[in-house]
Amino acid sequence: MGLLISPSVLNADLSRLADEVRRVERAADWIHLDVMDNHFVPNLTFGLPVIESLIAATSLPADCHLMINDPDRWAPAYAEAGAGSVTFHIEAARNPRQICRDLRNHGARAAAALKPGTRIEEIEDLLPDLDMILIMTVEPGFGGQSFMEDMLPKVRRAREYAKNAGTDIWVQVDGGVDAKTIGMCAEAGANIFVAGSAVYRADDPAVMIETLRDIATSACGH
Ligand code: DX5
Ligand code: ZN
Repeated sequence: MGLLISPSVLNADLSRLADEVRRVERAADWIHLDVMDNHFVPNLTFGLPVIESLIAATSLPADCHLMINDPDRWAPAYAEAGAGSVTFHIEAARNPRQICRDLRNHGARAAAALKPGTRIEEIEDLLPDLDMILIMTVEPGFGGQSFMEDMLPKVRRAREYAKNAGTDIWVQVDGGVDAKTIGMCAEAGANIFVAGSAVYRADDPAVMIETLRDIATSACGH
């Protein structure tokens, strides 16, 4: 399985969003877009209209991470708008199975995210409907926080779930992923890595993406 890097624009210059996405276009596999609503998390970013414009402005597939309340109501529109992957938080969902079906019906990969305090067992019944599990390795809401190493057993469990499901479920890590921590994540079984500040605070974000990919690849022995 190939390893995928999905840079988050959260810590980029948000006044020049399309340009910031283009800086990573040649090196990244996806672009990670953090939608926050000031309710599910104490921060507010951007929503559907901005994401629609970005989808039109880049060749990278959009990896939308919805840190919002009521994803049952709001998530399908992101798939309809052309996002390649839409992640909702399991803690906020009323009928996660229906959300996954709606997302897939609109042609997107369906993904569920778990906050650090949420047990992996919460998504066990949902595996047939999932294309990706996102293990948060910081409390969601802000970029630039420190990686929570105690989340690694959860990453391992997510990888076991994915193997046992017999379908192609990806395991994503998000939060504090950088050159120091990405190897541990890959070794634990993650195959798609979100990196925000590590990429956008680097002198050359595209070069940093290649560095991260190389470290992850050697850590998982591919
Ligand atoms: C945090 C967001 C992350 C964030 C990661 O709630 O979901 O995607 O941008 O940023 P870093 O890589 O700086 O932790
Ligand atoms: Zn995110």
